[in-house]
Amino acid sequence: MDARRIADLTVFPIGLGCMPLSDRHMVPERPRALATVHAALDSGVTLLDTADIYAPGAAHVGHNEVLVAEALRAWGGSSQDRDRVVVATKGGITRVAGPDGDVWGRAGTPEALGRAARASAARLGVDAIDLYFLHRLDPAVPYDEQVGGLAQVRDDGIAARIGLSNVTLAQLDRALALVGGPEEGGICAVQNEWSPRYRRDADVLVRCTERGIAFLPWSPLGGANQAGDVGSRYAAFAEVAAAHAGTAQQVALAWLLGLSPLVIPIPGSTRPATARASAAAAALELTAEEQARLTATEPLGESVFPDDQPAPPM
Ligand SMILES: NC(=O)c1ccc[n+]([C@@H]2O[C@H](COP(=O)([O-])OP(=O)(O)OC[C@H]3O[C@@H](n4cnc5c(N)ncnc54)[C@H](OP(=O)(O)O)[C@@H]3O)[C@@H](O)[C@H]2O)c1
Repeated sequence: MDARRIADLTVFPIGLGCMPLSDRHMVPERPRALATVHAALDSGVTLLDTADIYAPGAAHVGHNEVLVAEALRAWGGSSQDRDRVVVATKGGITRVAGPDGDVWGRAGTPEALGRAARASAARLGVDAIDLYFLHRLDPAVPYDEQVGGLAQVRDDGIAARIGLSNVTLAQLDRALALVGGPEEGGICAVQNEWSPRYRRDADVLVRCTERGIAFLPWSPLGGANQAGDVGSRYAAFAEVAAAHAGTAQQVALAWLLGLSPLVIPIPGSTRPATARASAAAAALELTAEEQARLTATEPLGESVFPDDQPAPPM
């Protein structure tokens, strides 16, 4: 499988979603967490996806970014190899401790986004973040202001490239009109949910493909709770896997890659074995018939993380 592009960057076709490495319910011991990232990198993966809010709790915001930075420093790859690794992070969601647990919010003003991006860059130990996403939209801040704030993060040199996450086609198109696409140094990546379980943004994927915008499907295996069940829930994925001596999860990743040359799935892992298995899926070539058969399966689930917030005014 050929490498894929994010604006001027070339990356391995499959990235590593680092969120589960900091998830309260599954956070592995530090050595295993580092070994998982290293297994992905050793398998050729060059895109690591993180976010400021990926943490075991509000008191530990930034946990995952610190882990990613530590994993990169501790990795045995050459400095040339390290330079090829792209770290994407996100801001715009807040998480603070409340009396009954974490309280989640949004902070999409340009000032808040600038502050969040600076904090992320500091935790990652970089002058400029490779790729910075607006994680989710703030319903209280006009959309154009949020996109303007994201562009300001780039203009201020805090991030080299910018992207949007969890956006509709109308929101993507408005952002493209405001700040341009990859050729203009504008929106060069979109990160929306897409998996055997959940497929709602075909129009966004079409636009990304037309405009050369990388599309990073999040929770590509249906999320941590259902990732083990891809084959039992979706028989076609198990049957195609048997024909390729692979697993249903690998077939799911190969199928995502087959949707568009702009797709770069970011499966999460908490174990070196799954990180390696996911990277190996880049070598799995499906026939056109298999691709069509998998696309024709019925998505059976709701979103892994449904958004309860209304869209901001446009
Ligand atoms: N932008 C957003 O709003 C947003 C939202 C959610 C997630 N994300 C990003 O998307 C990434 C992926 O989503 P996710 O972690 O929620 O869900 P996921 O990738 O669908 O599933 C993760 C689970 O899949 C298992 N797995 C991975 N590769 C496998 C393989 N080859 N075979 C069998 N099992 C495998 C892992 O098991 P083990 O634990 O056993 O390794 C892990 O627990 C996140 O890490 C995060 O970076 C973004």
